[in-house]
Amino acid sequence: MQQPIGIFDSGVGGTSIWKEIQKLLPNENTIYLADSKNAPYGAKTKKEILELSVKNTELLLQENCKLIVVACNTATTNAIDYLRATYEVPFIGIEPAIKPAALKTKTKKVGILATKGTLSSSLFHSTSKIFAEGITVLEQEGTGLVELIEANKVNSKTTTELLKQYINPMLEQDIDCLVLGCTHYPYLIPALRGLLPQKVTIIDSGEAVAKQTNAILIKNQLLAKKRDNTKHIFLSNSNTEVLKSMVEGANVEVTYLNF
Ligand code: SIN
Repeated sequence: MQQPIGIFDSGVGGTSIWKEIQKLLPNENTIYLADSKNAPYGAKTKKEILELSVKNTELLLQENCKLIVVACNTATTNAIDYLRATYEVPFIGIEPAIKPAALKTKTKKVGILATKGTLSSSLFHSTSKIFAEGITVLEQEGTGLVELIEANKVNSKTTTELLKQYINPMLEQDIDCLVLGCTHYPYLIPALRGLLPQKVTIIDSGEAVAKQTNAILIKNQLLAKKRDNTKHIFLSNSNTEVLKSMVEGANVEVTYLNF
């Protein structure tokens, strides 16, 4: 099964998921679409998010992808049901890791940092209801963070100040788990670690998504055979420099594409 795995995100953030997939599935070819021109998806309407998700999916299908990873929480929570009902390939989505946080918390208080688009979606609310019974989930919109990550400003003073503004109210309420509900946010982990007390565990969905991708490839007999010559193509419709800095390495090709 030499066909690539397709991955899309509103920009560079989904590379955090790509890295986990790469680690677990080193024999797979991948094609990644960074729709940075339209970032952030989190501030868009459901209809707009759906249209962009369809556009990205169709492009990946033209590239003959055997499975598509929607490496964007906002696109998953707003569009994955439609994508699964419309196209035949398997889709893997990214949802905020509420379940592992609910299992881990001792204070019974969990914080979630995500986009407005994710926090307002019905999928997020139904998941929270099922998995976080008896747990207080403190929701915080991460307005502005995606833009700062897209602009390669993860270590800037603006980012630190914004993070403090977002996490301090949750800390005051005694959270001991912080769920990163946006695939861009793992790039903020070093900055967050400097701001959070040791007792707060940061939880993101990257590893779980890679495991799920592996399971679905096996189930559908789509797993690639062992080989050394894999290829990873990254297509961005905006400045490619930030993307390049995040995925540098052998067998990686980063190109501008007007999509
Ligand atoms: C965004 O584009 O607003 C963030 C992407 C995500 O939710 O993972």
